[in-house]
Amino acid sequence: MSTLKITDLHVSVETDQGTKQILRGVNLEINSGETHAIMGPNGSGKSTLAYTIAGHPKYTVDSGSITLDGEDVLEMSVDERAKAGLFLAMQYPVEIPGVTVTNFLRTAKTAIDGEAPSLRNWIKEVRESMANLKMDASFSERNVNEGFSGGEKKRHEILQLELLKPKFAVLDETDSGLDVDALKIVSEGVNRAKENTGMGVLLITHYTRILRYIKPEFVHVFVNGKVAEEGGPELADRLESEGYDRYTEIA
Ligand SMILES: Nc1ncnc2c1ncn2[C@@H]1O[C@H](COP(=O)(O)OP(=O)(O)OP(=O)(O)O)[C@@H](O)[C@H]1O
Ligand SMILES: [Mg+2]
Repeated sequence: MSTLKITDLHVSVETDQGTKQILRGVNLEINSGETHAIMGPNGSGKSTLAYTIAGHPKYTVDSGSITLDGEDVLEMSVDERAKAGLFLAMQYPVEIPGVTVTNFLRTAKTAIDGEAPSLRNWIKEVRESMANLKMDASFSERNVNEGFSGGEKKRHEILQLELLKPKFAVLDETDSGLDVDALKIVSEGVNRAKENTGMGVLLITHYTRILRYIKPEFVHVFVNGKVAEEGGPELADRLESEGYDRYTEIA
């Protein structure tokens, strides 16, 4: 059993107008096998939290801590975080010109495991995962995310998730831009990975649609850089009908 623990996290970013504080005391604890949904208005800092967990250099941690099984995540480089079992599916996945999906996946797998996967099993595993995600085999020879449609980029993120088998996955709006069928396929991919590895999931979303397929035990409302309320799945339904006015008025 693993635990990802975020304590009183304050994060800022340098902008042309000076230092901007974004996260203002985030507390969150996720255990293996648990799914936590984070919902909240645009600009409340959800992606900033995701990037800070992954170690994006743009974001400065001013105070607070992130630990994985007691180990200080903030002391780790981006690579070390991935090796420790943290995975981020980005809201806006980046293109990597000149690097094919096949090479990217194999390099990432080798770096994370510390050794190259056995070729025969690996090829089979990649093929199976791609077929499960209804990704055409031709994607493996395309450059990462180059010319991918929005939905194809999201499927590629989940392909990585299935193959890299992290302890904790942060999914930042993995559902946005997906058609109904793709949403189901991507959700099944996440659920498969959960079943196979017992990973914990932090699911950032604006819509309860995805929560019908990936069931969260906990829902956190994120407002103005921190968690404003916590509850069970019923909280997501309430947010969908009532919006965030109640929180933004007091924030
Ligand atoms: N690199 C940056 N430079 C300047 N401002 C930033 C930067 N990153 C984040 N911000 C600001 O921090 C705030 C929080 O942004 P963030 O992307 O974390 O919000 P979000 O909750 O993910 O929103 P959305 O629901 O629209 O994805 C926003 O006001 C954003 O403009
Ligand atoms: Mg965001």
